Amino acid sequence: ELVLKNQIDIQLSTNRKEKPSFSNLKFGKTYTDHMFIMDYSREKGWYDPRIVPYQPITLDPAATIFHYGQTIFEGLKAYLSENEEVFLFRPDENIKRLNRSSVRMCIPEVDEELALEALKKLVAIDRDWVPNMEGMSLYIRPFIISTEPNLDVTPSQNYRFMIIMSPVGSFYKEGMDPVKIAVESDYVRAVRGGTGNAKTAGNYAGAMLVQEKASASGYSQVLWLDGNEKKYIEEVGSMNVFFKINGEVVTPELSGSILEGITRKSVIELLKYWGVPVSERRISIDELHEAYQKGQLEEAFGSGTAAVISPIGELFWNNEKMLINDGKTGDLSLKVYKTLTGIQTDKEEDPFGWRV
Ligand code: COI
Repeated sequence: ELVLKNQIDIQLSTNRKEKPSFSNLKFGKTYTDHMFIMDYSREKGWYDPRIVPYQPITLDPAATIFHYGQTIFEGLKAYLSENEEVFLFRPDENIKRLNRSSVRMCIPEVDEELALEALKKLVAIDRDWVPNMEGMSLYIRPFIISTEPNLDVTPSQNYRFMIIMSPVGSFYKEGMDPVKIAVESDYVRAVRGGTGNAKTAGNYAGAMLVQEKASASGYSQVLWLDGNEKKYIEEVGSMNVFFKINGEVVTPELSGSILEGITRKSVIELLKYWGVPVSERRISIDELHEAYQKGQLEEAFGSGTAAVISPIGELFWNNEKMLINDGKTGDLSLKVYKTLTGIQTDKEEDPFGWRV
């Protein structure tokens, strides 16, 4: 019965979309021909895994997702190599994090093996959608929503797990050119004991007003400080953050309010492999400013699946502009970017076994 339950039913689209020109796609605007769906009920558990033509879904207006936001998501990419093979990057890590986020949001976990199989099958079916262009990939968005019609504030009895996919280029229009970042001293993204380390919609919704405010002042994103003391650095925009200070790379330690980035983890492992000193520790904005004043703030960059590496050229804090590496992309930032994307696309050796 278990085997039957995990059998992914496939219904292929008879009406394939025309592929867009992959050269100037906006992030997350175009979707492939198919999607994965699996439903959950208290009685049946997760059931009916299937791949169907990409299409709108119907939900009851009282579905709890619309009211109390019981939802989580993931993000990963499929890459095309020069030999036209398709690769995923550490997908097992995404599936594990999906389940960790689910536990935090009271959503039932999915079977890891089935989720990986679903990912692979869906990518294989839509493999023509993996862009064959430098710097481009197929962004994969697994997510779970609570679907029970119920206005009571209680965990939903029903859920839907879906995977949709979108061919994408660079996440920030700047690409690997450095972005300008404003340090945010009023609003916070997450607090200790909150949901900051879960990949859940509310964290992103709560950041939008702050993002808009930063954009209006000419900044790409904000640097988030911790929600308790507004002193320690946490993330940049929707990414993890790294600083190279006097030869050592520092990234905020996972405190419970920071997202456990898979790119973050990979950057740390890569730096260690190279023998570059790297530490995960608390770092305050005051310490960073002091390093800047001493001329020791050598590079800064964000890390995430969408952008991979996004160099920071300027940090605005306390009415002061801190220019980093003359506003240019740092050598280490570029090396990390090239190596990670090289591993992802099979251009570089993968001593870690990250490519799947
Ligand atoms: C990232 O990949 O860096 C993200 O945070 C995903 C983003 C598109 C929400």
